[in-house]
Amino acid sequence: MKPRIGVFCSGGDSPGMNAALRAVVRTALYLGYEPIGVFRGYEGMIAGEITPLDASAVSGIIQRGGTILRSGRSAAFLTPEGRKKAYENLQKWHIAKLVAIGGDGTFKGAATFLAEYPDIQIIGLPGTIDNDLYGTELTIGFDTAVNIAVEAIDRLRDTAAAMGRLFLVEVMGRDAGFIALHTAVASGAEAVLVPETPTDFDAIVQVLERGWKRHKTSSIIVVAEGDEAGGALKAAQELQKRFPHYEIRATVLGHIQRGGAPTATDRLLGSLLGSAAVERLHEGASGAMVGLQKGEIVLTPFSQAVKTHAPLNPLLLKLVEILSL
Ligand code: F6P
Repeated sequence: MKPRIGVFCSGGDSPGMNAALRAVVRTALYLGYEPIGVFRGYEGMIAGEITPLDASAVSGIIQRGGTILRSGRSAAFLTPEGRKKAYENLQKWHIAKLVAIGGDGTFKGAATFLAEYPDIQIIGLPGTIDNDLYGTELTIGFDTAVNIAVEAIDRLRDTAAAMGRLFLVEVMGRDAGFIALHTAVASGAEAVLVPETPTDFDAIVQVLERGWKRHKTSSIIVVAEGDEAGGALKAAQELQKRFPHYEIRATVLGHIQRGGAPTATDRLLGSLLGSAAVERLHEGASGAMVGLQKGEIVLTPFSQAVKTHAPLNPLLLKLVEILSL
């Protein structure tokens, strides 16, 4: 029997996960392994939703959003009993090497699992739209999410300008402002609210008044879901009080940012990291995430990858302020 490599997606899905899966399966075959798919993340591992994958099982998926293995968050895997059941199922299927595609919750789970069952090897792939993992400059799905948000704001800008309105647009990111900041710069937003910096409504009112005086026809403020202002609707109410002469609307983009075809960047990243994850497993590595830094593939232990994320780029934060003139 050939040695086996299992693969699963866990946590919030992200565009490009399918490209990563395809790369994992095909690299595993290339190196002489039998690839095995685990459905619905840790939940499917516990329930035994496991099936062999061949090269054609991942045909025609590189351009598809979501994940053919499905994903999920598992409460049962947080318990020792759940993890025991998952381990027994892996044993039954002779799977000793695993690729985990997901975000911080996925890697925290993997680290606990490895501490209890060190005979398994796990390598992680950063699959999350949030870009909030330490050890990689980009996570799979981030570029697509930003592009979707920018396209949506371009549309909102048209109606905002036609009606002379201010729009507050909420993007995803419950703990991190990367999507919001990159979207704000790329869509020419007047301001951005992110969890990493204190929200200063007085400063925002100043920016809006400056624009009002020079007869700006529209204004856009991008709000990260996790900002202390409490989201776009609450921020809109707050601004309306301070700026009563402006017509204000709020739009929440929500899960729309997680669907649809991945960008070329996310397909490339998924392919590169997916393949690297299998190579690292083959070389004997475990307990770490593969990531991209300065064009190089690097391994970061799970404990570090989930602890914090890189700071927001201060140049981009400043750029929003400068370019909003
Ligand atoms: O972690 C990815 C993410 O999309 C976050 O940006 C968002 O806060 C969260 O998942 C939403 O989770 P769910 O899909 O469970 O509602």
